[in-house]
Amino acid sequence: MGASCAEYIAIKDFASEVVLVDIKEGFAEGKAMDLMQCATLNGFDTKITGVTNDYSKTAGSDVAVITSGIPRKPGMTREELISINAGIVKTVATSLVQHSPNVIIIVVSNPMDTMTYLVHKATKLPKNRIIGMGGALDSARFIYRLSEALGCPASDVDGMVIGGHSDTGMLPLTRLAVRNGVPVSEFLSQSKLAEVAEATKVGGATLTNLLGTSAWYAPGSAVSALVQAIACDQKKMIPCSVLLEGEYGLNDICVGAPVILGKNGIEKIVEIGLDAAEKAKLAESAAGVKATNDLL
Ligand SMILES: NC(=O)c1ccc[n+]([C@@H]2O[C@H](COP(=O)([O-])OP(=O)(O)OC[C@H]3O[C@@H](n4cnc5c(N)ncnc54)[C@H](O)[C@@H]3O)[C@@H](O)[C@H]2O)c1
Repeated sequence: MGASCAEYIAIKDFASEVVLVDIKEGFAEGKAMDLMQCATLNGFDTKITGVTNDYSKTAGSDVAVITSGIPRKPGMTREELISINAGIVKTVATSLVQHSPNVIIIVVSNPMDTMTYLVHKATKLPKNRIIGMGGALDSARFIYRLSEALGCPASDVDGMVIGGHSDTGMLPLTRLAVRNGVPVSEFLSQSKLAEVAEATKVGGATLTNLLGTSAWYAPGSAVSALVQAIACDQKKMIPCSVLLEGEYGLNDICVGAPVILGKNGIEKIVEIGLDAAEKAKLAESAAGVKATNDLL
């Protein structure tokens, strides 16, 4: 997935350099070489290099993306990955900060909300510089499912998923989703919308069952959108896992909420009006994330 993320960053051609790091000897070098051989075919100028575990080559990075760790296999939850991934993410995050003290970190490894919280604890970086990627992907999956139900292109649809990045914790905001500015409830029944929400929540598991491992195209593309919003100071509103300190009535937890992303990372946490049912679901979702955090 890290390579896929690098590929989308390169194709969008907004970054001068991307360095891939992996622990497996020669793997990142191979991925980087394969990607660089696309440069003339896809017309990008981004320089991609690969290194085995040598963080000195990442020195002075503006943005780092952590995708290291194991993905789930069919039948597994993201939470089951914690025992292996916590150690990996902690080591990777501290090595990155050592060489790039001003870096903005995007955490992707699962269980993502808990790994984002762990990176806060391990690096003590300011909260605007630690961002968990989940909501951007889950929202893209929500829009895909809505467009399928509506029989229209995804570009006609807008919608957002907040809450924890888990099969049960995601909160697709069907009430606020629109097709060309018109609430989707004008076109779809409440039972159809409930079906869409359910398919969105298990979007990752559906792909894991089909592929035998975790998906990478949409996750890689979603990460590249976050990197671009930061690198190009776009001030985009994207749901990300962010350390909440009172917002949405939650404290000392990283969970998905809409944020404004720009050159400083998370520039603002946006508090949108939720109805009573949505507030209750978000509180339940946060309780699930807290339970996983407790395993740390
Ligand atoms: N947040 C999301 O939306 C999202 C989406 C997809 C995948 N993921 C997660 O991202 C992670 C990666 O998924 P994947 O499909 O790319 O897995 P993968 O197994 O294909 O790649 C993981 C890579 O990490 C490397 N690695 C392991 N330990 C390392 C270390 N200490 N230092 C550097 N590299 C190390 C491995 O060698 C491997 O190449 C998983 O935890 C997966 O669950 C998250």
